[in-house]
Amino acid sequence: MRIIVCESAEEVALKAAVESIEYLGEALSATNPEATCVLGLATGSTPLGLYREWIERNRAGEISFRNATSFNLDEYCGIPASDPQSYHTFMHENLFRHIDIDPAKTFIPVTDGDDLTQSAERYEAMIEEAGGIDLQILGIGSDGHIGFNEPGSSFSSPTRVKTLTKRTREDNARFFPSIDHVPRTALTMGLGTIMSARAILLLATGKGKAKAIRDTVEGPITAMVPASILQFHPYATVILDAAAASELSLIDYYVDAERNRQR
Ligand code: F6R
Repeated sequence: MRIIVCESAEEVALKAAVESIEYLGEALSATNPEATCVLGLATGSTPLGLYREWIERNRAGEISFRNATSFNLDEYCGIPASDPQSYHTFMHENLFRHIDIDPAKTFIPVTDGDDLTQSAERYEAMIEEAGGIDLQILGIGSDGHIGFNEPGSSFSSPTRVKTLTKRTREDNARFFPSIDHVPRTALTMGLGTIMSARAILLLATGKGKAKAIRDTVEGPITAMVPASILQFHPYATVILDAAAASELSLIDYYVDAERNRQR
């Protein structure tokens, strides 16, 4: 795992933009129609700064999403895609409507229908048909979840319906009129799906994420901390602000390693 410690959430967003643009290279320049990319996207508060950076650079003509396809990690069950709190609405409002991505190439799990098992299987197949995810953006829950893979999730899980923990529902209640309005289940990419991405960029900011980050980066690999499986990923980068990094025991080492990193 590569660990990058930043001073602030703003610096996390900037660094994530620079790293993602560098990694995706020509695929975000739209000069070569052959150079395409598949993005894995997250919702929640954490990636908003990165999305703002992408939007600004897209508006300035520095990057283009014309050759990109995107797959979101998850969607709540039990609320329509048109609901203001749905992740469909979130992505439209916070990213897609501001950039030049083709809406027909943006995918979010569909939870409106009756057969969610079929919807999940279809989603997995679509990711595969698109050639797999090149770069997966992740946030992390205070309980160590990624996507909505809550503690106890199978490390090899595909996209499926998961029940949200009480803690996740409490954490996400800030987006809803009350906790009673927070859905109890979601359709989420599995840990197996996430691990199949060629590269992963996990972002975390704030003291509330410090313990989950410590357990993910330095703890044992355990289903009780789903994000800890990322220790097995060959190309996982974790970008943190000082508060989220504050419980890491090897923080000086990570800072030093980054300073001396060969480009
Ligand atoms: C969102 C997602 C979740 C969030 C996590 C952190 O699509 O999959 O894993 O990344 O709950 O949420 P925030 O960033 O709001 O703290």
